[in-house]
Amino acid sequence: MPVTVLRIGHRPERDQRVTTHVGLTARAFGAEGMLLAAQDKGVVASIRDVADRFGGSFTVEDKVSWRACIRDWKENGGTVVHLTMYGLPLPEVIPQVRAADRLLVVVGAEKVPGEVFGLADFNVSVTSQPHSEIAGLAVFLDRLFDGREFDLPFPGGRVRIVPTASGKRMEDL
Ligand SMILES: C[S@@+](CC[C@H](N)C(=O)[O-])C[C@H]1O[C@@H](n2cnc3c(N)ncnc32)[C@H](O)[C@@H]1O
Repeated sequence: MPVTVLRIGHRPERDQRVTTHVGLTARAFGAEGMLLAAQDKGVVASIRDVADRFGGSFTVEDKVSWRACIRDWKENGGTVVHLTMYGLPLPEVIPQVRAADRLLVVVGAEKVPGEVFGLADFNVSVTSQPHSEIAGLAVFLDRLFDGREFDLPFPGGRVRIVPTASGKRMEDL
């Protein structure tokens, strides 16, 4: 299932670290790319640097218009999931979400515009408690892919981590 993450509400002066982690989490957990509805070359460069070193084909693009992006996605037959604590519980809706051809997963930062709730095909909660877009995205993707993200290949990287019981092992490729 091809998945793209749309990050909205990013404030460059305070969200750089969290937005970078949204992108890195999206990549590690099997999404194809992240669209950022703001301009932030620093965030884009950090994520591209990791993707370059660790491999795979994750893409990241900033300066997208979230409204146009959601509209185009739906016009092209894609399905839009908005992660929000106000939505329907993830375990309840995941069977329907899995039936989609491709997914745009919207995560917010500051207050999400009300319009997004109406545009989304599914408003999905990862518990009905306030927490974080990074945690919400990770749990959502893990449930969507049913754990298969643990076996994802990331070809073309310059380095690879060799899992070890203790210490750190990194291999140059
Ligand atoms: C720190 S929250 C702020 C949300 C903001 N206060 C609002 O009312 O829209 C940032 C983002 O984390 C995600 N999030 C937080 N808690 C969530 C939950 N329980 N389930 C799903 N997503 C959640 C949502 O995508 C949300 O837009």
